[in-house]
Amino acid sequence: FSYPMPVNEPVYSYGPGTAERAALTKTLAELKGQLADIPMYIGKEEVRTGKLQPIFPPHEIAHKLGHFHAGDESHVRQAIDAALAAKESWANMTWESRANIFLRAADLIATKYRYHMNGTTMLGQSKNAFQAEIDSACELIDFLRFNVHFLSEIYKQQPISGPGMHNRTEWRPLEGFVLAITPFNFTAIGGNLPTSAAMCGNVVVWKPSNSQIYSAQMFMRILKEAGLPDGVINLIYVDGPTIGNVCFNHPDFAGVHFTGSTGVFNQMWETIGKNVANYKSYPRIVGETGGKDFVIAHNSADPAVVATALLRGAFEYQGQKCSAASRAYIPASMADKVRSLLAEGIDSFKMGIVDEFGNFINAVIDEKSFDKITKHIEEAKNGEGVKIIAGGNFDKSKGYFIQPTVIETTDPMYVTMCKELFGPVLTMFVYDDNDFEKALELVDKTSPYALTGAIIANDRKAVELASYKLRNAAGNFYINDKPTGAVVGQQPFGGARASGTNDKAGSMINLYRWLSARTVKETF
Ligand code: SER
Repeated sequence: FSYPMPVNEPVYSYGPGTAERAALTKTLAELKGQLADIPMYIGKEEVRTGKLQPIFPPHEIAHKLGHFHAGDESHVRQAIDAALAAKESWANMTWESRANIFLRAADLIATKYRYHMNGTTMLGQSKNAFQAEIDSACELIDFLRFNVHFLSEIYKQQPISGPGMHNRTEWRPLEGFVLAITPFNFTAIGGNLPTSAAMCGNVVVWKPSNSQIYSAQMFMRILKEAGLPDGVINLIYVDGPTIGNVCFNHPDFAGVHFTGSTGVFNQMWETIGKNVANYKSYPRIVGETGGKDFVIAHNSADPAVVATALLRGAFEYQGQKCSAASRAYIPASMADKVRSLLAEGIDSFKMGIVDEFGNFINAVIDEKSFDKITKHIEEAKNGEGVKIIAGGNFDKSKGYFIQPTVIETTDPMYVTMCKELFGPVLTMFVYDDNDFEKALELVDKTSPYALTGAIIANDRKAVELASYKLRNAAGNFYINDKPTGAVVGQQPFGGARASGTNDKAGSMINLYRWLSARTVKETF
């Protein structure tokens, strides 16, 4: 049975006077008027431990939205047991029944819970309405629908047979359970990592970032309403090291689907490597990790296109996309123009809480992040060969607000050219127009990462050269566009080198990782 290629979920504008803006405003007020009591979901149980941790908007830290019930090692074990208990009936359910649960979840988001998915994402993760809409509504819906389509294409793939025999491929799920560990910055990634593995017939233990629990539990409730059987996905709030300790020491550990830091991913490989003889099968280790994403302009580019790619690419969602532009290489002949356009753009950005719709910039995710980013801004204010050319202000009295900031450096290896900050800071290096090729080499060797990047140029030869020289420097490469905003089904997303295993989210490449084929030959 085949599911045709879907179309991308249309993006609502939330413009002034629209019905969607009124509906979202109402939902935000309702959410802010309640105190959410958020349990873990293990098997058929809603688990309330009484170990309460508060949830509040990063942009309004005095306003409590609710709390979640934190778990410990025993809950990790319970989640694994619940997953393994659900495994056989889930894996044996017809593909159509499994698929229809996820398609129904997508429809429930599109038609019934859109404002709740967006509202919990906006408040819990400090995203404005548009950034939430393209994430917790459209991208999440797209992941569910496109993965059903791609998986049905995989299931159709069968070997040839000859006279007196018939061959077939059985696309089995993995033997054991899959661990999904998901980040704060995209609700859609939080939804995709557990569901893509589950769709293939796997059972999952899901640990979201503490900063995404508010929207994660909303999605979990939608999956339940869509008919997901108990135990197929178990949502727990336990610290990473404890989860790793239990899961990576379990003989039924079958794989990990991860988005987060390179350091944590490296530790996982090490622990899994040490335990490798104890598992039934070699686990699948799939991860998307850090980035230090670049934009390089050629002197044939239109400076306005360069500035727009930088302003949107670096500062949307406060620069907290894995794909966000964080280093720029600008030819000397257009540097003044780009400097002034960046400064003008930053001056025009409104910063504030998410429920006021004009605010383009909201808060960074937490205090730790605020402190780390602002320390680098402070250092740049006083450093040698480095200066702040736009922005540079910050304040954490009411929420973790950092003004979008551009640092310019004469040292292409300056710390903020190399290190991932995960915040609204762009570092710019100006190169001699005659050194375009050298600048490309610099882009390639400055960072160990290879997630996204962009070339802005009108000269086709420059585009060709950049495309070739930077062929391994980014898993998602953009020509004359910002390096963010990959759309499911259009730009499969992921990078190699220190950025991960490049198993493109929302594509067949990713789904294959959650399958273990059995080839069956029958003679007659
Ligand atoms: N898919 C997002 C983007 O392209 C990053 O995760 O911006």
